[in-house]
Amino acid sequence: MKTILVTGGMGFIGSHICVSLLEQGHQVIIVDNLCNSNKEVLNRINQITGKAPIFYSVDLLNEEALSAVFKRHNMDAVIHLAALKAVGKSSQIPLSYYHNNVSGSLVLLKVMEKYEVFNLVFSSSATVYGAKNPIPYVEHFPLSATNPYGRTKVMIEDILQDIFHADSRWNISLLRYFNPIGAHPSGLIGEDPKGIPNNLMPFITQVAVGQRDRLSIFGGDYPTPDGTGVRDYIHVVDLALGHLKALEKLMASSVKSISAYNLGAGKGYSVLNVVSAFEKASGKEIKYSITSRREGDLAEFFADVTKANNELGWQVSRSLDEMCEDAWNWQRKNPEGYS
Ligand code: UFG
Repeated sequence: MKTILVTGGMGFIGSHICVSLLEQGHQVIIVDNLCNSNKEVLNRINQITGKAPIFYSVDLLNEEALSAVFKRHNMDAVIHLAALKAVGKSSQIPLSYYHNNVSGSLVLLKVMEKYEVFNLVFSSSATVYGAKNPIPYVEHFPLSATNPYGRTKVMIEDILQDIFHADSRWNISLLRYFNPIGAHPSGLIGEDPKGIPNNLMPFITQVAVGQRDRLSIFGGDYPTPDGTGVRDYIHVVDLALGHLKALEKLMASSVKSISAYNLGAGKGYSVLNVVSAFEKASGKEIKYSITSRREGDLAEFFADVTKANNELGWQVSRSLDEMCEDAWNWQRKNPEGYS
């Protein structure tokens, strides 16, 4: 049994990671400022696993409070997810994004160094591949960003490269997520965005329960088979299991390293593919209109997942149909999310 700190552990992805960790017998400590999550998540995690994570309502920018958590628990590793993540919003309030994501990470790293916790799994994003790389994306491609959110992820990856090269005690895994959707099959935890969803799947599920009138499909004239954007959707449970594999590798290897891994399914589906898979899974009609393109969106991207397959022994096992069934199961059972 290891003691793992999960920053942002109350969120959509974090809560699924906590469930996987608890199911594998680890002790889980969550640090989360609840800015985009709900305390009810703790009860739900407990219902699924029969175990409770230890929760601290702490902001990473609060160095003193974060230090107190490290002082109290002897951590073996940190999975760092806590961050702001709305691409569009990041262009409106860039300072908040840099402060939360970059300064928050710096405080965390400083505290980890002080308490000599050097195993880190970092929640990065496919957005670090920028707009110029060919698809599929491979880990060695040059990184760039097209918005402040993406830039925070590139900056933090750069910072982690620098600290690893300066101090070989660090042992770091950079996990580049593609498009996580779905929910735990119990329907007890899932995605619960505040306000109007920015992302495709929560928007679709809210249309299905009648909270939104219709989906706007952003662009029908992309150079893709049906003209709508193509993405690499990954079931959030597969994504969570990727973290466990990355963690196992960090803990098992005697040689310290920093490695990036794509966590995706390795294939693309269009917006219309997702809409019809969801209609099939839910038996609900999803009304939509095709509108203009959303600024900053790319036509198509998906992952090359060879490296994660070979080095982590990880691959996805859940299909798009399962992603839609589980997303629907969650939304149907929790039409208002956690509240
Ligand atoms: N889309 C719509 N209508 C919507 C929402 C989305 O048509 O209401 C389309 C988008 O145009 C895109 C696809 O659905 O073609 C997926 O969009 P999402 O917003 O769900 O996801 P993105 O690929 O835009 O963004 C995701 C993460 C970002 C991350 C990015 C790259 O949300 O954090 O992948 O990894 F930066």
